[in-house]
Amino acid sequence: MKSRNMSHAARSASGGTKVIIANWKMNLSINEGIKYIKALKKGKAEIAIAAPFTFLADLKKNIGNKKIKLAGQDVSRYEVGAYTGEVSANMLKEAGCAYCLVGHSERRIYFQENDREINQKVKNLLQYKITPIICVGENAEQRKKGLTKQIIKAQLLAALQGIKNVPLIIAYEPVWAISTFQKGKNVKSAGIFDIIAIHNYIRSLLETKFMNIRIIYGGTVNPENSQAILSLKEVEGALVGGASLKVSSFNAIIQST
Ligand code: 13P
Repeated sequence: MKSRNMSHAARSASGGTKVIIANWKMNLSINEGIKYIKALKKGKAEIAIAAPFTFLADLKKNIGNKKIKLAGQDVSRYEVGAYTGEVSANMLKEAGCAYCLVGHSERRIYFQENDREINQKVKNLLQYKITPIICVGENAEQRKKGLTKQIIKAQLLAALQGIKNVPLIIAYEPVWAISTFQKGKNVKSAGIFDIIAIHNYIRSLLETKFMNIRIIYGGTVNPENSQAILSLKEVEGALVGGASLKVSSFNAIIQST
């Protein structure tokens, strides 16, 4: 029988290479983004930048030979047509995106994005061969009530309805551990044992249906905790918000793998 370790290596889309993704959210300027890309250092991990839509073309031009992938932060649930303000999966493909975030908690909370829309977005991305980074996670109240697994299962099943055996990244982002939702508090990440338990749970839910999944962690990953989190075999990468805004701290996270 395969050990858990071998099973991870076999099923990981990357053969074990971790993926570290910067989520710039609605921050920085195009020029700052270009300077950042130029200052990014190589490490062992695969690197991706989830940048605002308007940055993508300029970033692509400035990536040069560096092995940096681009990601959208969102995508339209529609494929093409009269949908003012929307950006389609095809447009992201043209802009050079390999990945796209879907169902980030900020979109679920501030823009009332629902599971059905998230499922449509995942399907659109897959159609254009963009790997979705599906964000799931419980909020503080759900955690307190012991509903964490139930919430994650419901979010995953809904996001993946009608989809099987495609390459995927699942980002476990407990809402309560995301730095911007912890304003004024002593910002903290989820604990190591919680991260291991939930990553194992996600893998157990998906491994019979998907061969190529990477399960990554997001929620206050920073240079102080990145080595402890990223050294876990259950954690196949990180989605970094606040600490990705300064290239020095993002470089430190990359170097910790
Ligand atoms: P922080 O790293 O700022 O907690 O943000 C996490 C996140 O939302 C990444 O998508």
